Amino acid sequence: MDIKYSGPVCEFEVAGPCGIVIFGASGDLTGRKLLPALFELYKRGRIPSSFFITGVARSSLTDDSFRTVVASAIEKVAGKSSDQKIEEFLSRCFYVSGQYDDPETYQNLKEVNNNLTKKFKTEDNIIFNIATPPSLYGIIVKNLSLAKLVNKGQNEAPFQRVIVEKPFGRDYDSAVALNKELLSYLDDEQTYRIDHYLGKDTVQNILAFRFANLIFENVWNRNFIDHVQITVSEELGVGHRAGYFDNSGLVRDMLQNHMLQLLSLIAMEPPSKFDAELIRDEKVKVMKAIRPFKDISSPSTIIRGQYKEGTINGVKEKAYRDEDGVSPNSSTETFVATRLFIDNVRWEGVPFYMRAGKALKEKKTQITIVFKEVPHSMFVKDIKENPLEPNVLIFGIQPEQGVFLKYQAKAPGSKMCLYPLDMDFNYADVYGSELSDDYETLLLDCMIGDQTLFWSKKGVEVSWNLITPVLKEWDKSSFEDKKIKLFFYEAGTWGPKESEEFIKKDGRKWIVK
Ligand code: BG6
Repeated sequence: MDIKYSGPVCEFEVAGPCGIVIFGASGDLTGRKLLPALFELYKRGRIPSSFFITGVARSSLTDDSFRTVVASAIEKVAGKSSDQKIEEFLSRCFYVSGQYDDPETYQNLKEVNNNLTKKFKTEDNIIFNIATPPSLYGIIVKNLSLAKLVNKGQNEAPFQRVIVEKPFGRDYDSAVALNKELLSYLDDEQTYRIDHYLGKDTVQNILAFRFANLIFENVWNRNFIDHVQITVSEELGVGHRAGYFDNSGLVRDMLQNHMLQLLSLIAMEPPSKFDAELIRDEKVKVMKAIRPFKDISSPSTIIRGQYKEGTINGVKEKAYRDEDGVSPNSSTETFVATRLFIDNVRWEGVPFYMRAGKALKEKKTQITIVFKEVPHSMFVKDIKENPLEPNVLIFGIQPEQGVFLKYQAKAPGSKMCLYPLDMDFNYADVYGSELSDDYETLLLDCMIGDQTLFWSKKGVEVSWNLITPVLKEWDKSSFEDKKIKLFFYEAGTWGPKESEEFIKKDGRKWIVK
């Protein structure tokens, strides 16, 4: 049966007039994500014509040369646009060059913004998107405040909001310190801490799936669920981001943020309303209930891996240690696998297996819920000897975007033979290309003033609190020890064999659809 969706596609809210200032305007994130997302929003009429962008960075560019940068960034992502919208968009892009710690940069920015605010009638609403290296977040916000470009508490019209990119700190202490520093110049309501995974439609669908359908919520607990798996695999190595990555590692880059966000959406209790504060509070409660790591140096607690050379999709990938910007002795992990428990009534005893890595076999983000086996079956003689495959529910986050349910069915024929089948829902089949880009959703939400999809202050601190003992243990171990505890894997595989053994010891296996 060909099911075609005939209902409405969710209407986007449209932002009101506002300007957006991007710090780190000549950087990678701005080119790959921010500018294409802003253009797309503009093109689709989700941000109005009363809008402008001011790029700020150290490179000395003019407005015109910045527009060339903007045009080529958009073209790389969206292809060449013959659309007149691109001309309109470019005519709203401006540039201020300067050092981030120099007050003069902010005076120049103020003057430019004052003119643009009048010219484009943005009613003094302004967003500062800080897409620079994290060490500059505090300096920039302090200078914005000194120049009175942002004023504490100014969250409603005319609003002054600040978006801070990830990583937010590098451990618990630095995250707390950064929160403290930012919140001495801003109110929490003005501070938008990005985790771009939360902007993905498929991630937001987890809440709709769980809480808008009666049938799933009733089995969503330790009585019915055997375990949960969260896999975030990437086929790209670290490439040109090696400098940042070697100082960070996969636990900081993926586990502390994206993966814990996915876990908390799967595990949280339903709030009474779809409300930013209530949702974020529920997520914090789940993260607080995660059992702290014990015996961290044991590979039965957490597996760290690093890729060696290999072949991914027919293309040779060099070893991590041979990447430009990586120290030849680096013990930074490019792979991690671990098991978490949530100590509350719903989840007691249910393991959440988490694994993520770079330079793996394929790009895949999936959450797999494995249900318990049926306790008895009339179809088999002895269920212990002939177990039936349990139901498996998979949330495909990317590249497959959808929900898949594996269940037992009768195979055709005269005998009663059982065979597992898949019930597949694919976003693309139903909605075509209607899915929106994560950054489009998040930037629009900030313009509208909706914090639901951003990290709360507490959330960020609680997640670091969980992860920091692991980082500390790792940091204090000797080089030799680190070498022993680092498991190498060939690029283009599913990670070190120890990660397979890790889950096998629990009588389970990683599932990839
Ligand atoms: C970023 C990490 O937050 O997420 C990157 O810093 C990673 O290392 C990226 O590649 C993955 O995002 P996505 O949306 O491509 O899965």
